[in-house]
Amino acid sequence: MRKPAIGISFKIYKNKKTDMETYLGELKKSCVGTIEADLFVFPSMGTLAVASDYLVNTEIHFGAQNIAPIANGALTGELSIESLIDWQADFVEVGHAERRQELGETDKCIAKKIKLALANQVTPVVCIGEDETQKKRLREQLNRQLRADLSDIPEEQLKKVILAYEPIWAIGQKEAASADYVHQAHRIIREEMIDLFSDEVAQAVRIIYGGSVSKENTEAIVKDENVDGVFVGRFGHDPQNFKEIVDLVLKIKNEVKE
Ligand code: PGA
Repeated sequence: MRKPAIGISFKIYKNKKTDMETYLGELKKSCVGTIEADLFVFPSMGTLAVASDYLVNTEIHFGAQNIAPIANGALTGELSIESLIDWQADFVEVGHAERRQELGETDKCIAKKIKLALANQVTPVVCIGEDETQKKRLREQLNRQLRADLSDIPEEQLKKVILAYEPIWAIGQKEAASADYVHQAHRIIREEMIDLFSDEVAQAVRIIYGGSVSKENTEAIVKDENVDGVFVGRFGHDPQNFKEIVDLVLKIKNEVKE
C-alpha cells in the first residue's frame, strides 16, 4: 500500500512573509499530526525561510518549486539545493509545465535536477503531462517524458520519486480533467513505469494528480488505485480548503483499505 501524498504549490501567488506566516500558522493548527499521508508545501520561493521557521520538526514536508541542476557554481539567479538543505527542506518540485513552457526547461535539465535531489535525500515531485495537441498520443508522450526524466537512476532511488501528472490543458482552469481521464492517464503511467523500469519500481512510485484540484473534485479523482493523492494550486489558497482536500483523500484511501 502506497502512502498518499498531498501537496500544494503557491507558484508566485503568496509572496509576502506575513501571508505565508498566516497560511502556515493555520495549516499547522489543522494538519500537524497527519501521519497517514505525506503532506508537502512549496511556498513562493521568497518565503522559503518562513516555511523553514514554521515547518521544520513537524510532519509537514516543504521545499522549493525548482532547484538549479548543479549544487554550486556559476548559475546566476538559480536556487541551490545547498540552500534548500540548509533550510532543512526535504522536497523539491521539478519540471512544472510553466517552467517547461515559459522558461524553456528541457528534459535533460530536469533529469539532472531529479538526480541531484535524490543524491541529497530530497524527494523530487516530478511534473509530467501532455498539452492539448498531444492528447491523442497520450501514452507516447508520457512514455517519452518518463524515459527522458528518469533514466539512469538507481532503482532504490527511483522508488522515492513522486510523479505529479498534470495535463497542461487542465492547469489554471475552472475544472480539473475528468476523473475518468485522470484514472486512464495514471494507469498508463503505471504501465509505462513497469515497461521502462520494473514492476517493483512502478508499484512503489506515487503518482498524484495536479491541475485545478478542488475540494469539489478531489473525491472522484482519488477514487482509483493508481491515484495516490493530489497536487493542489489555487483552490488550496484557503488553508481550510486544503485541509478539506487532505481529509477527503484520507477518507477515500481508508475506505479502499477496509
Ligand atoms: P492550479 O495549479 O490548481 O491552480 O491549476 C496546479 C498546478 O499547476 O500544479
